[in-house]
Amino acid sequence: MRVVAIDGPSGSGKSTVARTLAAQLGLEYLDTGAMYRAVAFAALQRNIDPADADTVAKLVQDLHLVTDGPNVTVDGVDASVEIRGSEVTRAVSAVAANPDVRRELVSRQREWIRTRSGGVVEGRDIGTEVWPDADLKVYLTADLSVRAARRQQEIGASNQHDVAADLARRDAKDSTREASPLTQAADAVLIDTTGRTVEDIVADLLGRLP
Ligand code: DC
Repeated sequence: MRVVAIDGPSGSGKSTVARTLAAQLGLEYLDTGAMYRAVAFAALQRNIDPADADTVAKLVQDLHLVTDGPNVTVDGVDASVEIRGSEVTRAVSAVAANPDVRRELVSRQREWIRTRSGGVVEGRDIGTEVWPDADLKVYLTADLSVRAARRQQEIGASNQHDVAADLARRDAKDSTREASPLTQAADAVLIDTTGRTVEDIVADLLGRLP
């Protein structure tokens, strides 16, 4: 069993670092944010208000989710593109703040890890909640402007200022919610990815693995 937990805010480089590290270690990689996004997508598809906690909690119980790297199918439908869209991005914080949704998804994430005897898992609460016994816990950060520029490139937005404002708003929501807020685990390695290459960061992490 070998588990690497990678947490941090949006645009901190989690996905790229997690994917690259997983490939080098020969482990699978789980993007838990894609799971929260998939639930938000399913709610919107069914015209359920993402803030309607009880209805969304019921929805998630029977939802069939299959994740494969950054891709996800929801009840058999490939939603890999839609989950990155602005509608889902706006709706996802409310879904992620729902304690019943978190309980269900955390349980599925633990099952994913157990089935594969480990993996590289990225999110907001992996080192604090999902797998506190991870072999290595990493908390990535980066300057807001750098995170906004990365996100802008990802979604092809035209105005970086709007992207930065959106990111700041979502980070504030994720960090102040009651259920498993985004926070650095006491024993996590803090890495600021501003101005560093993926190769450099991954080499750094490989050197820290017990
Ligand atoms: O990493 P991302 O932007 O795809 O995450 C989408 C949302 O889900 C974001 O608002 C944070 C939330 N999230 C969470 O609360 N816990 C996780 N383990 C992963 C993501």
